[in-house]
Amino acid sequence: MPDDHAVLGRVSNPELLQAALDGLTACPKTLPPKFFYDEEGCRLFGLITQLPEYYPTRTEMKLLAQIGPEVASLMPQGAVLVEYGASDEAKALFLLNSGRFSRYVPIDVAVTSLRALRARLAASHPALDVQIRPGDFLSAVDIPRRAPILGFFPGSTIGNLDRPVAQHFLADARVALGTNGRFLIGVDLAKSPDILIPAYDDAQAVTAAFNLNLLVRMNREIGTRFNPDNFSHRAIWNGEKSRIEMHLVSRYTHIEYISGEMVSFAPGETIHTENSHKYTQSEFISLAAAAGWSTERVWVDENNLFAVYLLA
Ligand code: AVJ
Repeated sequence: MPDDHAVLGRVSNPELLQAALDGLTACPKTLPPKFFYDEEGCRLFGLITQLPEYYPTRTEMKLLAQIGPEVASLMPQGAVLVEYGASDEAKALFLLNSGRFSRYVPIDVAVTSLRALRARLAASHPALDVQIRPGDFLSAVDIPRRAPILGFFPGSTIGNLDRPVAQHFLADARVALGTNGRFLIGVDLAKSPDILIPAYDDAQAVTAAFNLNLLVRMNREIGTRFNPDNFSHRAIWNGEKSRIEMHLVSRYTHIEYISGEMVSFAPGETIHTENSHKYTQSEFISLAAAAGWSTERVWVDENNLFAVYLLA
């Protein structure tokens, strides 16, 4: 019965259902960006990182290739590398290949990606103890504390967090990483919207597909019946908050049901799906200081696009 189905739904992801009920009955409507990363979302994000307009990944990779050995040399032999939001090991390899680390703890919401990562490292780095941690990097993670820890948070994923939440996260990480711990963190620099907007609204519409996939995921995992054609992708620059915002814009008046709960959309009404905060160097150093970290080093690429900070 199609209608029963629409009301009762099939819920294979109760956490997403709760987030959708909370976020879509609120005003303005929101959904948390961590739900972008189902299998298709991970695939699309991989394509985003290759786009000519999306400079962060390739810029940070180049920086990490240059600084990886130097950062690793600051850590003692047998140290632990803990990566927050580790969809693959590509960035960590610049540190792991130093041979300094005996244990690698990747944390990510995408379990399939983590398992694949572990299998690849078992083959390429058999001596490395890899302990995957499926889950949100915001929830407290238990980290083995026997050896000094280098926390690693690349990709400017910290930009997804509102500034106060980012500060809170940095303060928690300081406790989790221990008094001798360091934190290597990649953060996108504030820059002209002429560069930022295309990076989040690319000519091939891959970012649009990434954003719209959230609706497809809800249909599959919580039994909604969103028609992605009812929405369009929008990226805007919020100068006051120095962030890119991604929205799904409703094209028409329409109604959707989430587990029997009616949700109505006006034309032009949006679901706010992601923030990507952009920091000046001094602003990020202040934020880290407010969370109890001192900045040991900062590296910036030659075009002033992206910064990597070593906190201690
Ligand atoms: C993975 C959160 C860093 O904000 O740039 C890319 C995600 N969203 N294009 C970012 C993203 C749209 C990305 N982060």
